[in-house]
Formats: sequence, structure tokens, C-alpha cells
Amino acid sequence: MPGEPAAEAAQPATDPEGAGGPGRLRSAAWFAARGRPGMIYRSWLRAEGFTPEVFDGRPVIGIANSWSELTPCNAHLRGVAEAVKRGVWQAGGFPLEFPTMSLGETLMRPTAMLFRNLMAMEVEETLRANPLDGVVLLSGCDKTTPAMLMAAASADLPAIMVTGGPMLNGKFRGADVGSGTHVWRFEAELAAGRMTQEECVAAESGMARSCGHCMTMGTASTMACLAETLGMQLPGSAAWPAADSRRLLTAQQAGQRIVSLARDGIRPSQILTRTAFENAIRVNAAIGGSTNAVIHLLAIAGRAGVPLRLDDFDELARPVPTLVNLMPSGRYLMEDFCYAGGVPAVMRELGDLLDTGHVGVAGRPLAAEIAGARCWNDDVIRGRADPLLPPGSGTAVLRGNLCPDGAVIKQSAASPQLLRHRGRALVFDSIEEYHAAAASADLPADETTVLIVRNAGPRGYPGMPEIGNFVLPRTLLERGVTDMVRISDARMSGTGYGTVVLHVAPEAAAGGPLAVARSGDPVALDVPARSLVLDIGGDELARRLAAWAPRPAGQHRGYARLYVEHVLQADRGADLDFLVGSSGCDVPRDNH
Ligand code: FES
Repeated sequence: MPGEPAAEAAQPATDPEGAGGPGRLRSAAWFAARGRPGMIYRSWLRAEGFTPEVFDGRPVIGIANSWSELTPCNAHLRGVAEAVKRGVWQAGGFPLEFPTMSLGETLMRPTAMLFRNLMAMEVEETLRANPLDGVVLLSGCDKTTPAMLMAAASADLPAIMVTGGPMLNGKFRGADVGSGTHVWRFEAELAAGRMTQEECVAAESGMARSCGHCMTMGTASTMACLAETLGMQLPGSAAWPAADSRRLLTAQQAGQRIVSLARDGIRPSQILTRTAFENAIRVNAAIGGSTNAVIHLLAIAGRAGVPLRLDDFDELARPVPTLVNLMPSGRYLMEDFCYAGGVPAVMRELGDLLDTGHVGVAGRPLAAEIAGARCWNDDVIRGRADPLLPPGSGTAVLRGNLCPDGAVIKQSAASPQLLRHRGRALVFDSIEEYHAAAASADLPADETTVLIVRNAGPRGYPGMPEIGNFVLPRTLLERGVTDMVRISDARMSGTGYGTVVLHVAPEAAAGGPLAVARSGDPVALDVPARSLVLDIGGDELARRLAAWAPRPAGQHRGYARLYVEHVLQADRGADLDFLVGSSGCDVPRDNH
């Protein structure tokens, strides 16, 4: 009959027992059964127009796509997904793309970080509930990468990540401008009267010239590089610009590779080992990576069951020099980093500082992957003999009575003369209170003042926003002050800079000592000694803490309530306590 398809060439692979057995692909539990159970699964999927061969026992590969027009950094991922599909078909798999929650760093309020754990939970459950043998994770913007890695670690389904790549270098009036980094600079210039509003508007489009994520070494670039270092994305793929054809090439290769990972049953638990995290911490130091990497790696490690402590970040990074000369620590941008050789060139230069026996999704030891890596611009990726910053200049972990469970400071983005500093505290209970005061002409502060903003931690805000590098008071900016010591229980954008102490734990809302600091208290910061002290004496601090009472809890419902009641402190990755660990991807019960 015209229009009627020819007799169907292939029958589904059938499983007499109707469920996946040892050594079988997971999807067989859905598609291989004879009779009604298998027919239900196959028939409805064929409504999408697939031929029956797709059920012949080939690996079913999910493509978890965080595309969204509300996440500008991920808005090009539908095209990337098509390239992944090409690779999956090419390798004999059956690709099925599905949307995930998406987290747009710039648009979401109160902060995208509030929803990282929700996205991780949503992706994890989607992976587990569906007939998938493997998944390609498409991410880009800051929180989408860690959320997907957390999900993959908990579901422990064969997985490979493809990040969307950075934007092309920003350009404005003949100079490089970095997304994020120059927002802070332009804000300070505007506040100081050295730039007009019209000039700022003109700079906006020059700062976002193409699709892709922020092209500084902000959190998105950092997490993309670390996903590669962890072995969860293909070697050499993190730095390709989003607009470069090799971004799609790498996506197609990932589509091919995931089919092998699914067939061989290679799971994230075999890749996300303690060795992988140690390498990631060292590479993070070498690239001048974001402080947010600390929280995200702790959370991913928690899902993978890898014991990782906040202090590991300091201890493991101490022998590592900062090699990568990118904003906000240096002067170049991700496009330059890519053309200079990207992550493989950095890892090759780090050499014996890494464990090159680690095997990631590519299936070969790191030593083999980076053996041929070359650096093509030694001002962008410096050698160990001529680093951008000497060993021990990365993110430092502070201890002291103001942060008993730790705090962090990104030394490479701080002012060297402020790394040892003693000053009087000026304390604000919220960022809004600070902003109002900072605009006033008679703020009682000078350049020695230590500015403290509290109640911006995971529980207190809630969601631990990126306000830690809050702009300096207007009067001081006008006097030409460019940096001051700032302390908070918040985070800082990876594109931000300044002498800012972040992630103070426990946070004020959890009754940490930050909650009882008062304006006028002496504060001593000594980064070389890794110390942060509220110098009021132990007895006085104990008296204040005993008298402390929590602020009235906000009116939260739904997810925000769940978050506030279960979020862990920053030193444990700010995951939800009940999400730590893995549930694996055993086939759920059949309801048909
Ligand atoms: Fe998405 Fe910077 S806002 S990566």
C-alpha cells in the first residue's frame, strides 16, 4: 500500500525473563520483554517515528540538555545536542534528548546557587527513572556543570560531560574585556565618576559577543576545566569556544564515546576517585580557578563517596604555582587559553604534581592523554620556571575564631599588601543594609576598615549568593581606594576579585562567631599564616555566643524550606544532607 512502511526489518531483542540480567544493558529491562510489558515501552516511543531497529539491544543514550533561553550561557546547546546525536548514531547507539532544569546565573533570584541541589536532584532522578544506559550531560553556566556532575555521581550511570564552551573574547574600544570581571570594574568606574552610564551600556554587547559561558576564568570556565581534569569530559575539550566548530566536533566525539562507556559499563564511580579530585584541586590552583570550585568539588565528592576535606584544598594546592594568566587573576581570556593549548598544556606543565595514572572517560591514563600536549603561548600558560604567581598563591583556607570550620580567600585575586591586615570591623546584617550605607557620604570607614556582611550563607540568605566581593563604599572609591578587606559567609563570582574572605563557616545564621562580631571589633587577617581572628578575647566571644539568638526564620515554603532545613555548611559543599552519597542506577520497579 502506498505510504505503508515495508515489513519491519528488525525485531526487538527479547529477554525471556522480561528484565535485565547480569551483563545486560539496563534498557533491556524496558525494551527487550515480549508481549505487553515490552510493547508498552516500545510502542509509545515509536510515536516519535523511530524504526524498530532502535530496540535491537543497542545502548540507549540520554542527552541531558540544560538548554534554556533563560540561561544565555546554555542557549546554544540544542545545536550541541545535535552533534552529540550524530556521534551516538554513528557508534551504534540510540540517542534520546531530554530537557533538564537550567540555572541562569545572571537572571535567577535570589541566586542560582539555591537551585544547584534541586537541579542535581532532578537530573539524578530522571536518569534513574528512565531506560537509559548512559548519558551525555550538556552544561555551561556556572551551576549547571556541578549540578550535573553531582547527579551523575549519585545515579552512577555511565556518563560523559560536554560543556558548552566559553564566549569569544570580549572587546570594547580596542581592549579585551572579560565577562563578569569588567562588570565589577565598570561598576567601580561608574561609582567613582570615571565612566558614564552610556559608556557602560555600550560596553554590554562588547562583553557578550557570541554564545557560550563567561570567558574569564570564572566559575563556568573553572568547572569546565575541572570536569576535564576529573576525567568526566574528553581531554582538550573544555576550552573550545562555543562558537568554534571544534565545540561540535568534541560533542560528536562524546556521542561516540558514551556508547562504548555504556557497553563496557564504565561508571562515574570508577572515574570520580580521590585521585581525580586531588588532580582537580591542583589544576584549579594552576589555572587560578574560582573559589566556587571548592564548594562544588566538595559536593561532587560527597556524592561520589570520596572523603575530601576543606583543608585538602590548601594542602594539595600549596606546591602548585599559578600558571594561567587569565582574568580575574591575570590579563587574558578563554579564547587565548584555548589557542595556547588549554587544560592538556597546563597538566603537561604540572607534570609530577599530578597523578597521571588516572583514567577518565577517554579510557587512557592521563599520562598518555597529555604526552603530546604543547603550549603555544607561554605568556598565557606560563611554565613552572616562570609562573604567574609562585606556589601557594591559590585559594587559601583560613582558620581562627571567626571561622572555626574554615573560610577561603583567593590570593591571586587579592591585593598583596592586604593579605596581612589588622583593622576595625564595620558590620552589616545584610547586603541590602550594606549597599544603603555604602552610598552614604558619612560612612564611618577608611581604607583600613574591615567590612563584614553576614547572613548571606547557605541557610541565611538562603542560597549563599555571590555578593562577597561587594563594591567598596562610594566615598572611598572617589578617593581612589581600590581594595579593602571584606569578610562574609557568602560566595564570590569566579569572575570577581579583591581581598575578600568568603565561605565563613559556620555561617552567621547557623550561630557561627560571625553572628556576634560588632562594629569596632579588631579583626586580624593573616593569609600567610592561614588565620582569621576576631581579636576580642576568648571570654568575651564566649559571652556573646552564649547570648546569641537566631534571627526569626524567614517564611519559606516548598523547595526553599527543604533547602533551609537540610543544607550543609560551605565547608561540606552546601549540598542537602539527604542527597550526600549515591543511590546507583538499579532498574526501578515496573508498574505495568
Ligand atoms: Fe553563565 Fe557567567 S553567567 S557562566
